Amino acid sequence: MPGDKSISHRSLMLGALALGETRVSGLLEGEDVLSTAAAMRAMGATIERLGAGDGGGEWRVHGVGVGGLLQPAAALDMGNSGTSTRLLMGLVASHPITATFIGDASLSGRPMGRVIEPLGRIGAEITASPGANGTQTLPLMLRGADLPVPISYRLPVASAQVKSAVLLAGLNTRGITEVIEPVPTRDHSERMLRGFGADLSVEIDGQGARVIRLTGEAELRGQQIVVPGDPSSAAFFIVAALLVPGSDLVIENVGLNPTRAGLIEVLRAMGGSIEEVNPREVGGEPVADLRVRHSALRGVEVDPALAPAMIDEFPVLFVAAALAQGTTVTRGLEELRVKESDRIAVMRAALDSAGARVNETEDGLTIEGTGGEPLRGSANGRIKTHLDHRIAMSMAVAGLASRDGVEVDDTRPIATSFPSFEDLLATASGAA
Ligand code: S3P
Repeated sequence: MPGDKSISHRSLMLGALALGETRVSGLLEGEDVLSTAAAMRAMGATIERLGAGDGGGEWRVHGVGVGGLLQPAAALDMGNSGTSTRLLMGLVASHPITATFIGDASLSGRPMGRVIEPLGRIGAEITASPGANGTQTLPLMLRGADLPVPISYRLPVASAQVKSAVLLAGLNTRGITEVIEPVPTRDHSERMLRGFGADLSVEIDGQGARVIRLTGEAELRGQQIVVPGDPSSAAFFIVAALLVPGSDLVIENVGLNPTRAGLIEVLRAMGGSIEEVNPREVGGEPVADLRVRHSALRGVEVDPALAPAMIDEFPVLFVAAALAQGTTVTRGLEELRVKESDRIAVMRAALDSAGARVNETEDGLTIEGTGGEPLRGSANGRIKTHLDHRIAMSMAVAGLASRDGVEVDDTRPIATSFPSFEDLLATASGAA
């Protein structure tokens, strides 16, 4: 599996803020991560590709030091990447510079109020564009604070991007910045900030919430980072192997951070045979190879509490559910409506045209599986991906389990997170 997208973004951002040299191996060379690299260069860091390595690229970063970001000369083009946008807004918020953020049509429809609000409290001034239903969206201009104020912020939505934006702003803020996280989300920022030498503590309060404290005006030191493989990319191959009769697939180098491993738990509860082989630690994260065999899946009710640990994996879980025996019920997934597309509505329409039986509710999908029978699509069943990589890849997996095949209208977005997807899928299905 290619490098983890979340960890790749963070390694470039922190490398660019550290003093000295950071080496990153296994970096995901997807468009989203390259947007982060371009933005960090535009703010003064030196970021170079040294060559191809195992599972990703070898990169070198020379940082500017916390507080040393320069004013970018032109607008920062974030492409399709919500993670680049929200985390970089955090970084800029505590530097005395002004940056304009722009993005593609998908990103320009996504809500930015969730970061504007806490970053405003820190002292940043942000002018955003009005979006649908009173939301604040790109393009936006952010003027960082001259004297940023440390805040204590309780996350109103379970979002690692919002958490990370506040923590990254805290790096150049005198005093202690605190984030209270009632529902845990991916913790790569916390792990990596510590790895770079920041003073960061995590404690569980009386109500079971995680309280993260970061001491500001941190001095980060360059690191050697090995990026583990992305479990969100592995997800497509896990489900493909479970669905296609005769499959017995080993997926190498899969990150298994518990804050990311919800899909595996749900697929196992559905009867999926997923074995962890050669467990090890890579770059401070648990990693294993996964051996996945074709399995008869049963529908389940997915516990909404698992959602943050599999938030990007619902599109492909819906595909697994469409082939299971019985009904799968998902709820509590409002956040899916503000991803690269409205993943509840878009997957309902996509699975409909692929011939699955799906019901849409306000906060999830209820899916009646075929019990392993291949899907039978309608005649004009071309899938609309709406600039969403995970819709394209999920529906490619559905195509493997379809009598008539599935046609996807636009595969270009796949390059945002998984440029080698089509080649790997061809290899894996050719070997069957
Ligand atoms: C990410 C956090 C998640 C996830 C996204 C990557 C991150 O977003 O969907 O793909 O790297 O922090 P939210 O914070 O909006 O849930």
